[in-house]
Amino acid sequence: MKSSLLLTLLASARTVLTTNPPIRNIYTFPKNHFIENIAVRSNSNLLITSMSVPELFSIDPTVTSPTASIVHSFPNCTGISGIAEITPGLFALVTGTWDLANTRANLGSIAIWTVDFNKPPAHRIKFITTVANSTILNGITRHSINPTLLMAADSAAGSVWRINLLTGSSSVAFSHPLLQPTGTAMEGLHLGINGLKSQGTHLYFTNSAQKFFAKVAVDFFGNQIGNIQIISNSTAAGTAGNVVYDDIALDVNGVTGKGFAWIASHPDYAVRVAVGGTTGGEQMVVRNGTVLLNPTAAAFGRGSAKERRTLYVTNGGEFTPEFELINEGVVALDL
Ligand SMILES: *[C@@H]1O[C@H](CO)[C@@H](O)[C@H](O)[C@H]1NC(C)=O
Ligand SMILES: *[C@@H]1O[C@H](CO)[C@@H](O)[C@H](O)[C@H]1NC(C)=O
Ligand SMILES: *[C@@H]1O[C@H](CO)[C@@H](O)[C@H](O)[C@H]1NC(C)=O
Ligand SMILES: *[C@@H]1O[C@H](CO)[C@@H](O)[C@H](O)[C@H]1NC(C)=O
Repeated sequence: MKSSLLLTLLASARTVLTTNPPIRNIYTFPKNHFIENIAVRSNSNLLITSMSVPELFSIDPTVTSPTASIVHSFPNCTGISGIAEITPGLFALVTGTWDLANTRANLGSIAIWTVDFNKPPAHRIKFITTVANSTILNGITRHSINPTLLMAADSAAGSVWRINLLTGSSSVAFSHPLLQPTGTAMEGLHLGINGLKSQGTHLYFTNSAQKFFAKVAVDFFGNQIGNIQIISNSTAAGTAGNVVYDDIALDVNGVTGKGFAWIASHPDYAVRVAVGGTTGGEQMVVRNGTVLLNPTAAAFGRGSAKERRTLYVTNGGEFTPEFELINEGVVALDL
């Protein structure tokens, strides 16, 4: 068989996932570290945030027994929410003083920082700005074609913010009813727009409370320039009817096939959604109550071919009857 044909067949076989992929534990944090978000460096290391401690963690998932080292301990905050790579080696993140029961930060406490791994010997930390009027910046992403802009999901206000990483100025890029929450923390409906990623001319996002995954086109300045298009509903994922979408890993150009998003979903799911073509909106659900424990975010590995076919999923963790959070960490799905 010609190798090119073989490659084509292998590539198409990859788009079909009939059984649950193997799931490996990478690292479990000590108790009471609510693990929130993940970004991956070009050297394969995972950058992990926790909303309950002010440290940014780094984990090398390629070694036999991975450990978590502290990249930096941030001042004036109790935890970190979103993290995203802006330009190669430069990551932005959000700190805040969090009320975890309500998933809100004290007004005035939300701050944006960058961590630049291009600055030897290790990295350089830079304070960018505070975002005075937000009580939660959740998922964050680079703007695809404007490297000065960080885009951030405000799950409480139902807005997308733009933060200029050069000047520190911030403003609401757009607000919309489809970005808003619908209820309170008690009902679990207090998070509207949650995960946020950019690809091409679009922002892709989840709305946890309104139970959908969607995309919206934005211009160079981050302004909304089209209607919000719902791609899938979490109510239609799986059979149990209890899927709550959280953050997203986009695989639009595909190491596992063309045009997928993987959505970390509570309480024990990773949901693959086709984002384009004739199968757009089609969902494939991985459910595993033993190893997927309130998944909060997902990201593809980087580096070797094996890493690029690995989806890392962060687990927020599970509560003991004494309300201690345990088994928070990161697991790997071998796709
Ligand atoms: C959950 O994942 C673990 C680890 O891959 C596996 O041993 C177990 O069979 C899985 N359970 C289900 C229900 O798929
Ligand atoms: C922490 O906050 C205090 C009070 O707002 C401020 O004076 C101080 O500069 C901040 N420290 C850092 C390292 O940002
Ligand atoms: C914050 O809100 C106040 C009151 O609505 C407004 O005057 C101010 O411009 C806002 N600041 C920012 C940075 O959006
Ligand atoms: C999502 O659900 C809404 C409301 O039930 C429905 O109108 C819409 O067609 C659904 N969209 C998709 C892509 O499943």
